[in-house]
Amino acid sequence: MCKIKSIFSSLSIYFTTFVAKAGDPLKKGFFTFREYMKKDDLLTASMEDYLEMIYRLSQYIGFTRIHDLAAALNVQPPSATKMVQKLADAGVVNYEKYGIVLLSDKGKEIGEALLERHQIIEDFLKLLGIIENVLEETEKIEHTISTKTLECIADFVQFLKNSPDLIKEFETYRVNK
Ligand code: CO
Repeated sequence: MCKIKSIFSSLSIYFTTFVAKAGDPLKKGFFTFREYMKKDDLLTASMEDYLEMIYRLSQYIGFTRIHDLAAALNVQPPSATKMVQKLADAGVVNYEKYGIVLLSDKGKEIGEALLERHQIIEDFLKLLGIIENVLEETEKIEHTISTKTLECIADFVQFLKNSPDLIKEFETYRVNK
């Protein structure tokens, strides 16, 4: 990997973090996500699902394998290989030998934004009291939501998380309505 490129990417991450108030991971994710959304239609919904999962699986060990990816997404390994090759063509992963899938810098940045988006929507649905099919609902919503709406939802989720009394009040209201 080119060193200059990686320095630039760290600088841009530092800058967005600084602008968005250091230490606020939600805001940081947003800026990354907004940047990603500017390059509109870079990835299809299905490619996004794969990239999000590759990012999740790579979080601790730095890479994932085709078999683990296929198992996590409940697909057959040949389908996963096909999609990983598309992601490699888009420059977000490197996939060469032994079934090992490595994220590129761009892939890490987008993967992080996709995971952030997923978490914001999932948190929002849970705050609404949705328990059943939260994952499925999140997966359906995440590909169609606009950046602006996602930002508003993130603010709302953060606001409520900072005000546990309001969450309790809302739950009581729903039980008694
Ligand atoms: Co997702």
